[in-house]
Amino acid sequence: MPGTCVIGLQWGDEAKGKLVDILTEQHDIVVRYQGGANAGHTVVSGGETWKLSLIPSGILRDGVTCVVTGGVVLDPTAALREIDMLEGRGVRVGSKLLLSDRTHLVFPWHVAEDRLLDGSVSGGEAIGTTGRGIGPCYRDKVGRALAIRLGDLYRPDFPDRLRHVVALKQRLLGGVGDGSAATLPEFDADSILADTRRMAARLEPYVADTTAFLLDAVEAGRRLLFEGAQGTLLDVDHGTYPYVTSSNSSGLGVGTGSGVPGRWIDRSIGVVKAYSTRVGGGPLPTEQDNAVGIHLRERGNEYGTVTQRPRRCGWFDAVAARYAARLSGVDQLAVMLLDVLGGLDELRICIAYEIDGRTVTNFPSHVDDLRRAQPVYETLPGWPEDLAGVRTMAGLPAAARRYIERIGGLLGRPVSIVSVGPDRAQTIPCDHHEGGQRPWPRHPAPARA
Ligand code: IMP
Repeated sequence: MPGTCVIGLQWGDEAKGKLVDILTEQHDIVVRYQGGANAGHTVVSGGETWKLSLIPSGILRDGVTCVVTGGVVLDPTAALREIDMLEGRGVRVGSKLLLSDRTHLVFPWHVAEDRLLDGSVSGGEAIGTTGRGIGPCYRDKVGRALAIRLGDLYRPDFPDRLRHVVALKQRLLGGVGDGSAATLPEFDADSILADTRRMAARLEPYVADTTAFLLDAVEAGRRLLFEGAQGTLLDVDHGTYPYVTSSNSSGLGVGTGSGVPGRWIDRSIGVVKAYSTRVGGGPLPTEQDNAVGIHLRERGNEYGTVTQRPRRCGWFDAVAARYAARLSGVDQLAVMLLDVLGGLDELRICIAYEIDGRTVTNFPSHVDDLRRAQPVYETLPGWPEDLAGVRTMAGLPAAARRYIERIGGLLGRPVSIVSVGPDRAQTIPCDHHEGGQRPWPRHPAPARA
């Protein structure tokens, strides 16, 4: 069976990019299937740092095809900026990149709408979106009347369609803000049309029916790596609604987003940080607004890749992560950023919540209950050692091994990978991993030929 998927089990930023980069060499095709330019992944490769939002990091390797499927919302400006950045740094994108003609496009009105509406959710607390127009674009996708897909740009009726959408958007959004140019710019259909045509011409070589391509590929036995963006708890249907993103960012989204049914996936890796972070609004039950939070933020460099916002930090939440692991159907775990915990005297793991005097271990379905949840903690010993140079499980301090084992036990899955730093080499395979197949080769090859 040819498919692997990598799914975040928290609120995003679980360092999935590093894992995807390592796993890419076992696969022929890397698939990005949901989200948009709200995601950011950082890959350190060959001593260089790469920051990508839309294009899979597999683009840094030869012999790998990167596919952006119809479940993604594509900002053409952001996509071209990434292509130019890659080409400018010597990476040939060429035929290695395919963009689905079904992807919905993010236009300037989506970004304006995101900024207009984000402040008005649920009694005052904003979602704190990335401001990239993601939610409004998905809303138009579901609404259909005002949506434009990548494939539409190459149809003869596109200019009429664009003019129609621009006129309606201007009127609709005019009723939302205070009417000032600062909140709602004037959308000039002619200049947007000219810009979009220019971008369409540049993007055309990459546009394809990726569903057909991927179905042919799996049936021919080619190996696919599905890279999830954001994390399970930000899933629009199953996360901490409404403080979520607008796509199915759990493992459940792989099939709908990519067009490849789940039967082609035989390995599903759930990625967790060794602690919790969240950026934007919404409850984070284990949040540490104190010295521990500062330790995690500074040691873990917990600042948003896309927005540079400081991330909220807290202890590992096994109630939330266990729910996410079950929902996303992962069969093994990768524990990232373990080194960040070094130097804390003792560590806590949330093993239950107390809500209105009741102890619960199921993740609440309503955000108000989660807001009232008081974490029940288990305390484990910390370790003073710096783990950055450790390369084997045996080389880890006993307290770190115990911490990892406890996470695996609480989530009911084996931990197959531990990461102790951003570099590919700072990755520890867990040999006790059940299931036979090693998560990645023992000696990862260099990133680029
Ligand atoms: P949106 O996806 O920009 O609409 O933002 C919705 C929520 O998801 C906000 O709380 C964002 O901070 C969060 N979010 C979106 N993308 C990411 C990500 O890649 N990592 C972490 N949080 C994200």
